[in-house]
Amino acid sequence: MPSVAPAQIPKAGVRRIAVIGAGYVGLPTAAVLSHRGHFVTVAERDVARFELLRQGMSPIVEHGLEEMVKDGISTGRLRVVNTAADAVVDAEFVFLCVETPQASDGSANLSYVTAAAAEIAANLTDGAIIVNKSTVPIGTVALVERVIGRSDVAVVSNPEFLREGTAVADSLNPDRIVVGSHNRQAAAQVADLFGDSGAPVVITDATTAELIKYASNAFLATKLTFINSMAGLCEAAGADVTDLVLGIGHDKRIGFEFLQPGPGWGGSCLPKDTCALVNIAMSLDLDMKIVRAAISGNDDQMERVIEKIKTAAGGTLEGRSIGVLGLSFKANTGDRRNSPAILITQRLVDQGATVRAFDPTVNRGDAEAPDLLHLTVCESPYEAVDGTHAIALLTEWQEFLWLDFARIREQVANPAIVDARNLWESGPLHHLGFSYSGIGR
Ligand code: NAD
Ligand code: UGA
Repeated sequence: MPSVAPAQIPKAGVRRIAVIGAGYVGLPTAAVLSHRGHFVTVAERDVARFELLRQGMSPIVEHGLEEMVKDGISTGRLRVVNTAADAVVDAEFVFLCVETPQASDGSANLSYVTAAAAEIAANLTDGAIIVNKSTVPIGTVALVERVIGRSDVAVVSNPEFLREGTAVADSLNPDRIVVGSHNRQAAAQVADLFGDSGAPVVITDATTAELIKYASNAFLATKLTFINSMAGLCEAAGADVTDLVLGIGHDKRIGFEFLQPGPGWGGSCLPKDTCALVNIAMSLDLDMKIVRAAISGNDDQMERVIEKIKTAAGGTLEGRSIGVLGLSFKANTGDRRNSPAILITQRLVDQGATVRAFDPTVNRGDAEAPDLLHLTVCESPYEAVDGTHAIALLTEWQEFLWLDFARIREQVANPAIVDARNLWESGPLHHLGFSYSGIGR
């Protein structure tokens, strides 16, 4: 749990900062900057998110965030408003942390970025620095400069690398800080805001900074597709991917991170950012074949998991009931955007199955959410597996480790398990009479 110690006086002095957008990036950014001792105003236009924040509550599931938000509000270093224009009036730095969803052609939709820029332009103080933290294609710094239309205002790129679930810890201790601008003085001032973190700083031009963000996510996605493909090869060859990861991961050039096989990668960023990178390359007449292969390999992985579930359920999905454990795109987040679990359950239903599902961040009150309409939301893992023909573990919540499988054995119509996160040991499950299928072992 990140501790909320009293803020120190920042090395580079106390600054007045505005953050536009209080989502998975904006809120941890605002909370951590206020924790570092700066005065931060965060703007959130979504009514539900804004109301929760006003009460000192975090609208997103994020370890340690609510505590830090409450602390910031109580010390007066963090303020919440509902319009971007109000947030920026006295700000020396303005962080843009708004969404950049995937457009129909695969590119990043920049309308929220340009709308926010237009909203704040007239209210900015002289010499303000706009810091773009949203993930955006090359040329966006220049685009924001044009929308702002003020020669006294600098715009810099400062891509964000935090992960959901560990956003506060990642923001407190980033692996590196990247700042890109043709205005080196403005870039250095932005880097100074994070100076206390001790992370290495890469100062570069705006285009390179914008590409660094996409290159990072595309590399991670490619690494995941690689290990998922190796898991498939392990299954065909009778090898064990867990040992294979140990065997390659000890090579320091490879490492162990991001080599956990799974049902395919998802979330709000890797899918859209890989597509956006392919799109950027296309606009420059280049074909990023390796990234396209990572994307299509990911679809294949989800199909492989569906096949496993079908086999476990007796060779067909028609009329079968599947008990699903986990709906968020990974553990420790409530985010279901592009969750492999949601994509897989939808395809199970398309092939005739019914799905009962439990996730610790979903309750029956969420059952009307559009992405959950195809399944039955259950209040416990035991309710989800009741009477089912196969159990599929799709998100690696640690609380699934300690289920009472003897009880589950009595509940199911057919004792078959697909463990798409390799969370469980097969031995004890076989002993209880379950068939077990993991990934690559
Ligand atoms: P999000 O949808 O959770 O948050 C964006 C917030 O901005 C929303 O709450 C929205 O209501 C608010 N907003 C939009 N326009 C506004 C305006 N004009 N005024 C006030 N509020 C406004 O999105 P996110 O996941 O935080 O992602 C934001 C950006 O950061 C994206 O470009 C994303 O690719 C990038 N990013 C995300 C992550 C992550 O882990 N989610 C990590 C690194 C980078
Ligand atoms: C990812 C990157 O890790 C962050 O650095 C980046 O800032 C962020 O995207 C972003 O740009 O939004 P996040 O989306 O929070 O972070 O999720 P990850 O932890 O990267 O996981 C992505 C997907 O890969 C999940 O579906 C996860 O289950 C899967 N995964 C991850 C695996 O299957 N195996 C692994 O070993 C790691």
